[in-house]
Parts: sequence; C-alpha cells; structure tokens
Amino acid sequence: MAGGSDASETSTLSCAQCRKPAHLQCPKCVELNLPREGAAFCTQDCFKSAWSSHKSVHVKAQLSSIAKVLPGDQNSDLIAEGWLYCLKKGQSRTPKLPHFDWTGPLRPYPISSKRAVPGHIVKPDWAIDGIPKVEPNSELQHVVEIKTPEQIERMRETCKIAREVLDAAARIIRPGVTTDEIDRVVHEATIAAGAYPSPLNYHFFPKSCCTSVNEVICHGIPDARKLEDGDIVNVDVTVCYKGCHGDLNETYFVGIVDETSRQLVQCTYECLEKAISIVKPGVRFREIGEVINRHASMSGFSVVRSYCGHGIGELFHCAPNIPHYGRNKAVGVMKAGQTFTIEPMINAGVWRDRMWPDGWTAVTADGKRSAQFEHTLLVTETGVEVLSGRLPSSPDVFPWLKEK
Ligand code: MF3
Ligand code: CO
Ligand code: CO
Repeated sequence: MAGGSDASETSTLSCAQCRKPAHLQCPKCVELNLPREGAAFCTQDCFKSAWSSHKSVHVKAQLSSIAKVLPGDQNSDLIAEGWLYCLKKGQSRTPKLPHFDWTGPLRPYPISSKRAVPGHIVKPDWAIDGIPKVEPNSELQHVVEIKTPEQIERMRETCKIAREVLDAAARIIRPGVTTDEIDRVVHEATIAAGAYPSPLNYHFFPKSCCTSVNEVICHGIPDARKLEDGDIVNVDVTVCYKGCHGDLNETYFVGIVDETSRQLVQCTYECLEKAISIVKPGVRFREIGEVINRHASMSGFSVVRSYCGHGIGELFHCAPNIPHYGRNKAVGVMKAGQTFTIEPMINAGVWRDRMWPDGWTAVTADGKRSAQFEHTLLVTETGVEVLSGRLPSSPDVFPWLKEK
C-alpha cells in the first residue's frame, strides 16, 4: 500500500554488508522497485564496500524486465544467445525495450544474431558492409531500363525462386511460430536455391526478409515474437540470383481473424489485381495509383503514401517510382521490356505512417491494421507478365481463390 512504510518495518531491515540495523536504501534499487531486503545499508561506508558486488543486482533486474515481455524460460536464454532489440537502421542493439509512443498493441522483440551466407553464393555489393554502392549512383535511378531478352529470362528464373521461397514461408505460418523462424525458412530456402536474400544487410537491414504484423505497414524486422491467433502477417521476400532481383510479398491470416482484417487483406489483394490488369505499353505510371485508390476508398480503407513500387532488375530499387495513391505525380508511360513492382499498402484507418526506433519498422499512425501484396511485373507487347505469379505448387492460403 502506498505511503505505508513505517519505522517498525524499516527497523527489521539489516545491513546487506554487516547485518547491523540498516536505515539507508540503495537509490538504484528504489528506482527499479527491488525488494528492500538486500538493498539496505547501515552506513555510506558499508554501501561503498558492498557496491562492487551489489551492483549486479541492478543488471539482473534489468535483464529480467525483458522476461516480462517475453513470457517463459526462453528469455534469459535469448539474451545469453545474443538476441537484442534493434536500434536505428540495425546498427546498434540494446537489451532493454526502447522508449517510444507506440501507436498500437504491437511491440518489438529481441532479434537473433546475423545469419551466415555460404561463400559460394554470389553476393550484392552491400552484403559485406551494409552500403549499396552501384545502386544509388546508377543512371537507372532516372531512366527506366528496357530489358534485353536475356535479362528477361534471368528475371523469370529469379522471380520463380522468390515465389518458391515465399511459398515455403507461407506453409509454416500458424500461431506460435516466431517471425524469426519465418526468416530462417526464407534464409535457408533462398540459399538452397543458390540465391542471396537481398534484404540481408541492405542499408544494414539485419534479416533476410521483412515480416510485418498487424499495424506494421512494411519493413518489419523478424524477431522473437510468436504469431498469435487472429494476427495478420505480411512476408516480403526478395532474392538475388544470376545478378537479378525478384521481389514479392503476401499477407497471411494467422488462425481465425476478425471480419475487418479479413476484408482489409482481401481488398488489398484486389487492389494489386486491379492495378496489374491495366498494365500494358502506353499506360501512364500515375494511373496505377488511381485504380488502387478507387478500390481501397470504396471499402473505407486508406492508401499508404510514404512507400512506393519501384523498378527492379540488376538493381533492387530503381526507376520508375510507383505511388499507390490517387492524384500522384509519377512520371512516364509503360513500355514493353520494363520490369517494376506494384506493392500497395492499405490501412484499415488513417494513411499516415510512423517509424519505430529501429529505423525500419513503419507502423500506422493510429495503430489500426495494414495489409500489403506485391508482385514483380514485366510489361509485354500486349500487356503484362506477372513474373512472381502463383505456381501450381503454391499453397492454398487465400479463401477467395478457392473454387467451389
Ligand atoms: N522488399 C521490399 C520492397 O518491396 C524492400 C525491403 S528492403 C529491406 O521493396 F531492407 F527492408 F529489406
Ligand atoms: Co518491392
Ligand atoms: Co518487397
């Protein structure tokens, strides 16, 4: 009870150093709300001589505060194995949950240490030091490349691998699976196919794919959180193979989800389908956003503005820039031989996004849910080829695709 610490209670405490009656409390223990026994001292001298061993009490308490957000035995193991929270662009780590004005119920969890890529896998230039060197300096940031038939064939191969990797991830999704386990499947399936997981160390991104749960819009970092019944989770896979990138994502249901989430995910799937259906030579890139905005707003949902589709090929991200919202100022018209992504992010509430302290995780400003689907596309002479399209082997995870 507050204000109830009387003299008799205090007088029962004995000095943690010499066992004499104690009247001083360690201020750090008070701050951390630790038990008064073991934190009491008779004099400053006893407090000082106890300090070198006593201070470990504070460290233990701070580590076990992590245990409160991660129920179960695994927490102390996680910390011992080097699982830590990610700060700013994956360049530093902390054992304590960072402070933030969280917008919804979701919180970050510790992330595992970096996964290795075997020497025989050909790596993009950011794999070693986290810094893309060719990509930001390429003229392909300004001009939209027309791929040669040989480049197109490599894009087909790469996107098929990316699709198979995403499908492998989709098959393990269920309550209790951590997003780190999804990342492990993506990492191992990518390497087994002889490819490099493009996100790994891209601008210091710490993992091999993005996993975006509930109010996360995109770029969620796989971590120790277990998926819960009723969650939605987007898995975004990009692989680099034979010098080309292939990029796609899907949003999955974890167990049984509420009706609004079901509608949000289906509407987002339809937004991407409708956008793809207008792709052909001569169409303006800015039309894509009109189609998506029309369908999303019709269902009462909003379109994310801060993240766009992009050109893709030998570069992960290049021209054209493809906004998904209406009345956008995207430049240019589609031409046969161009490859780019469309990847609408649709929110149940407001369109505005915020960034977590990790520098990657984009969340909705109001904490309501967000869904996304992405494909890598080729503009053909007559229309479009969905390079990352579903395969006969793809798992049946979307109820609206099941034939009656
Ligand atoms: N795959 C994402 C996209 O669709 C990009 C992820 S970059 C990362 O463009 F660094 F966050 F992985
Ligand atoms: Co993309
Ligand atoms: Co992607």
